[in-house]
Amino acid sequence: SHRITLGPLVAAIDQGTSSTRFLVFNSKTAELLSHHQVELKQSFPKEGWVEEDPKEILQSVYECMERTCEKLTQLNIDISNIKAVGVTNQRETTVVWDKETGEPLYNAIVWLDLRTQSTVERLINKTPGKNKNHLKHKTGLPISTYFSAVKLRWLMDNVDEVHEAVVSHRAMFGTVDSWLIWCLTGGKSGGVHCTDVTNASRTMLFNIHTLDWDPELCTYFGIPMEILPRVRSSSEIYGLMKICSSRKSGALSGIPISGCLGDQSAALVGQMCFQEGQAKNTYGTGCFLLRNTGAKPVMSDHGLLTTVAYKLGRDKPACYALEGSVAIGGAVVRWLQDNLGIIGSSEELEKLAASVGTSYGCYFVPAFSGLYAPYWEPSARGIICGLTQFTNKSHVAFAALEAVCFQTREILDAMNQDSGIPLTQLQVDGGMTSNRLLMQLQADILCIPVVKPSMPETTALGAAMAAGAAEGVSVWSLSPEDLSEVTSEKFEPQINPEESEFRYARWKKAVQKSMNWET
Ligand code: G3P
Repeated sequence: SHRITLGPLVAAIDQGTSSTRFLVFNSKTAELLSHHQVELKQSFPKEGWVEEDPKEILQSVYECMERTCEKLTQLNIDISNIKAVGVTNQRETTVVWDKETGEPLYNAIVWLDLRTQSTVERLINKTPGKNKNHLKHKTGLPISTYFSAVKLRWLMDNVDEVHEAVVSHRAMFGTVDSWLIWCLTGGKSGGVHCTDVTNASRTMLFNIHTLDWDPELCTYFGIPMEILPRVRSSSEIYGLMKICSSRKSGALSGIPISGCLGDQSAALVGQMCFQEGQAKNTYGTGCFLLRNTGAKPVMSDHGLLTTVAYKLGRDKPACYALEGSVAIGGAVVRWLQDNLGIIGSSEELEKLAASVGTSYGCYFVPAFSGLYAPYWEPSARGIICGLTQFTNKSHVAFAALEAVCFQTREILDAMNQDSGIPLTQLQVDGGMTSNRLLMQLQADILCIPVVKPSMPETTALGAAMAAGAAEGVSVWSLSPEDLSEVTSEKFEPQINPEESEFRYARWKKAVQKSMNWET
């Protein structure tokens, strides 16, 4: 058997909304050596509710770690070469657990969940001028169902177990990063309760200027600060993996967890967007376009969020980003498959849509969870319009792909208006970018080239880089030269801009129809 000479390896746990992954990279070349992915179950117990089981999330992480270790062994790669692990995760999703039993006290309330819509409307109505941006100067965020604070408030008000655990000082709150790091560093026997600045900046309890929990915000939402995790930088040693030796992933015990970033921040890092003005768009369950604004938080006048992009070391400065968030991206594909049944798998969507190559005037606004940026309208609901006798499922499939592109266009427009410097091309990543039709459509609708790296796992790469660069690990230098080998593919716009503007104007009309649905 041949011997493989490798530099130090760095791993990443990528816990997304729809799936979990464990990936191992060579820190000298950024080459992806092995990985494993597990799909995640979501439950929709009531209309608008979206939940996941925190224990199943944890289990999926163990399974991915185990299978990846097996694959590495088959490749003759020694697991002891792994020097650090980074964690990256779906953001905002809210977990509360009991620190004595280690048990979650309710399902995780997923970021997309709408159960807090009435609470949010009540909070906004109470602000001077019914202003959803009332807390934006501190948080960078509008008051919305999207962020953790209202979900946590709902759990405290509606779940007896959570209420009791809070009262008796046994409750711990966390986003998925905190839940995983606590469990993986020992759980009820000494687990580390922490989060990083990027995840914290999505809770609405965090002051993005002081980079700490904000007592006033906590009072506003009625959240006791003792249940919050400690906020750390995105790149430092939080603790060591403690995995019981009976598990096949026990071999990973003792490795430091030294990187933590919300998945959209991690993708920004993995795409090497370290310069002010650089941006990326990730097509996951949702779609998230982040543009690096450097050391200063920039407040948007066009419905974008201000968020912490990363802080790569305890003594390093924080970097901020403007973010355009789209709730439904890849989720529309799963909906076409599971709810309408017009495709059997996500791969079939491209074929079905390509068979017609046009929506034939059909527009699909998938506002399943209200509309996020730039509208922030929780009462919007999905619509499919422009139907004729001629319309068939292929046109609907095409319209669904176009919807992802139009939503990105809306965000790009807002981003360009806020910064005054239009993007001349868009760097993309995420699962849906393997759909070539989508990528071409995106370039057509944006009227700028779309650039996709050939290694699509940029989110995991960013988390691995942060972990490998941490003080005390230092097997990765965060310089773009490291990745000078990165190859990419470019999609150039192929339709004329007038055609593109015409379709975009129709889309905007459809969006108006999707709003104020309930009034
Ligand atoms: O804010 C939610 C986001 O972090 C989820 O990302 O990739 O699971 O859609 P994704």
